[in-house]
Amino acid sequence: MIDMPVNLSGRSLLKLLDFTPDEINYLIDLSQDFKNLKRTGTPHRYLEGKNIVLLFQKTSTRTRCSFEVAGMDLGMGVTYLDPGSSQMGKKESIEDTARVLGRFYDGIEFRGFKQSDVEELAAKSGVPVWNGLTDEFHPTQMIADMLTVKENFPMGLKGLKFVFFGDCRNNMGNSLMVTCSKLGLHFVGCGPKELKPEASLIEKCKEICKETGGSVEFTEDPQSAATDANVIYTDIWLSMGEPDELWEQRIKELSPFRVTKQVMSWASPDAIFMHCLPSFHDTNTTIGEEIAEKFGITEMEVEDDVFESTQSRVFEEAENRMHSIKAIMYATLR
Ligand code: CP
Ligand code: NVA
Repeated sequence: MIDMPVNLSGRSLLKLLDFTPDEINYLIDLSQDFKNLKRTGTPHRYLEGKNIVLLFQKTSTRTRCSFEVAGMDLGMGVTYLDPGSSQMGKKESIEDTARVLGRFYDGIEFRGFKQSDVEELAAKSGVPVWNGLTDEFHPTQMIADMLTVKENFPMGLKGLKFVFFGDCRNNMGNSLMVTCSKLGLHFVGCGPKELKPEASLIEKCKEICKETGGSVEFTEDPQSAATDANVIYTDIWLSMGEPDELWEQRIKELSPFRVTKQVMSWASPDAIFMHCLPSFHDTNTTIGEEIAEKFGITEMEVEDDVFESTQSRVFEEAENRMHSIKAIMYATLR
């Protein structure tokens, strides 16, 4: 195979299915470089004079702040638009919004519902668009997650056993399955069979695995899933945009798939726990409190003891969002 240099200039990041393993590894390594620059206090205003806009149809802490700080560290102007303060969707189509913003800005971040909306923004704006989460995929999270895994397993990502517990057909389950397949990890989804990713996406990933040496499987048995795992990952049981009425059903369906100390004990002794956050690991949130009152449970997808354990990497993972988003913007806007 010819060794091609990676050049992502002008590209959008809509889903990792569009990227080669070399391109994904390049973004992970570049994220590490930006982390080193930040840690050593080395200025890196490499994109001075450029401007970006952040469009959010859903709420956010990590993604918004990562784009804002990363943009400012790179020397760019940053505009934030929330659902209440732009015309998009209500009075102006995605297509028209894209055609306007593409004339003002060098890059656009979008967090919303439909994957087709972010694809349309990219097709019509003429500038790089970064998907900050849709119902289907969360690709910027993936670069941060794989950087976190690599920091903990410096021998490399290939061949690691990566287990996702819970709602396997949400944006996180889908994205992690795709990313593990691309990078040659062994992905196991452990959750109810009703909440598996679409069959066509699973098939696509299995095809990718033939090239990369990875694998994809699903099970409803937490012990066999966790045995010898290097990474145990979970996400909230009800994603943004889903109706509150679903809580009862999800709690019933997903309680057997909570990440507990017992689950961690089955994993490899060097296993780490990861979560994209936010997480319901206690009752210190309004939703956590309401759920405790209504259903009598004080933890949902993960036990507080696991979340707070020495195996937990959730806050390093959150920090890595900022470094990796910086890498993504730099690689595509340079
Ligand atoms: N993980 C993540 O995307 O967090 P936010 O919803 O806070 O952006
Ligand atoms: N699945 C979650 C991820 C949050 C980062 C959601 O969409 O709400």
